[in-house]
Amino acid sequence: MKKIALVTGGTRGIGGAISRALAEAGYLVAANYHNGTATAEKFHNDTGIPIFSWNVSDYKSCENGISEVCRALDGTIDILVNNAGITRDSMLHKMNPDDWRLVIENNLNSVFYMCRLVVPTMRDKKFGRIVNISSVNGLKGQVGQSNYSAAKAGILGLTKSLALESASAGITVNAIAPGYISTDMTDAIRSDVKESIKATIPLGRFGRIDEIASSVLFLVGDKASFITGAVLNVNGGQYL
Ligand code: CAA
Repeated sequence: MKKIALVTGGTRGIGGAISRALAEAGYLVAANYHNGTATAEKFHNDTGIPIFSWNVSDYKSCENGISEVCRALDGTIDILVNNAGITRDSMLHKMNPDDWRLVIENNLNSVFYMCRLVVPTMRDKKFGRIVNISSVNGLKGQVGQSNYSAAKAGILGLTKSLALESASAGITVNAIAPGYISTDMTDAIRSDVKESIKATIPLGRFGRIDEIASSVLFLVGDKASFITGAVLNVNGGQYL
């Protein structure tokens, strides 16, 4: 029987590439999205992957959304990829408290909510694979990203703790820390800042979305069965 994989923020950017790669590898994939209905519908038309809209920063919405996925795909979640995330970049001394809250809710609380809701059934089945998408900036910090870096660092703590709690139940929990990947999110960075960031990447370029997707595929597959609590850096050597 095909394993069911759920990808949050799974219809565009890095998440879209992850959904596609998992579907191509034979998993039954559900792609969550929140804003961007037209993009999500185009993604569905292009790939045939079912799409499900809910706000991952709201616990009740996650509960309802996961139930809908399980009903539609007639099973429970075997693989969860927590990818959804947003930025609200600004220097801390100018940061609007709403932008702090919004980023923590969307990028960190969401990961707790999704894990809290799928882990019980994974424990019952004695199988699960969870991959949380963190960031190089959760490891090293970044000017203008105190909110985002705090959330992405928080994901690493959650990942390691949940990995310890879940190992005996056959569930692996790992994180990927992408560096700068060409997406709408990095396109929005001011061009002078972008050039200065590129200069710090030993491989001399931003990464591609498929280069994150292939790492997810590895971590959820049988070849990674002894890896848990790990943080995989996929960043062109930016922070080693
Ligand atoms: N390292 C050290 N100092 C830096 C710096 C850097 N990388 N970037 C900027 N600074 C310094 C500036 O020289 C400036 O110093 P002075 O005050 O002494 O002149 C100070 O920090 C303020 O910088 P700005 O003038 O740029 O401040 P601003 O308020 O105009 O802009 C900002 C703020 C728009 C957030 C801008 O700093 C910025 O774009 N930062 C980068 C944010 C970033 O990397 N976002 C990534 C988005 S993609 C993503 O998040 C995905 C992922 O996981 C990687």
